[in-house]
Amino acid sequence: MKRELKIFDNLNDISDFAVKKWTELSEKAIKDSDRFSVALSGGKTPVTLYRKLSKVQDLPWNKTDIFIVDERFVPPESDDSNFRMIREVLLDHISIPAENIHSVTTLNISLHDAALQYEREIRISFGISDDAVPSFDLILLGIGDDGHTASLFPAGSELNELNRLILSVNPPDITRSERISMTFRLINNAKNIIFLSTGADKSIVIKEVIEDRNSTLPAALVNPRKGDLIFLFDNEAASLLATQ
Ligand code: 6PG
Repeated sequence: MKRELKIFDNLNDISDFAVKKWTELSEKAIKDSDRFSVALSGGKTPVTLYRKLSKVQDLPWNKTDIFIVDERFVPPESDDSNFRMIREVLLDHISIPAENIHSVTTLNISLHDAALQYEREIRISFGISDDAVPSFDLILLGIGDDGHTASLFPAGSELNELNRLILSVNPPDITRSERISMTFRLINNAKNIIFLSTGADKSIVIKEVIEDRNSTLPAALVNPRKGDLIFLFDNEAASLLATQ
């Protein structure tokens, strides 16, 4: 596993770098296996990246499979829906076959069944058996100021999940909506993981994630067994790191 940390002046530069990386990884994946599988996070930070990607029409979108790292259990038209943001900013602007887009069903289904159904959809798309774990070409993650990543929150029982690929999650803060999230079993099997994070409000938690090897914060538990891990921060998010 290769672990890399890159610090930029602003979110625009982070996003330009991430577009370059996405392009390289998609070329490699398609050369190796004729498909490129990515899982996208919600939140605010990746919006600039998705907007930039939406303008790159010559990416191999017809061979790109797009999944969601985590979803809030809200109707698809809700302002809180991660898929809605990704659709409006990226998917509505590119030529991608509908069957390449894998969103989480949140209507007319229970939270528990939505997680099971999404896990099944991932297995079918990767064509793998019930005990195998798919290996995404790229997973994009963010970091919450409490150290959560995906919808895996500090001290949550989901952190120790050894069997499932997708779980339903009740966030510790009950004002937040229920979630569906990829587990570490799935995340840590990725070929490439890129974290994007900006702003001074993330700096304390980023210091712990990067410098404390014993940290139990969810973002610190991201550790792709066979893959590469890249952290992309702006100066403010990285401001407390010992090595900059
Ligand atoms: C979500 C996310 C979540 C996000 C972090 C960071 O659904 O909210 O997938 O894990 O990546 O909360 O969010 P920001 O990018 O807004 O800081």
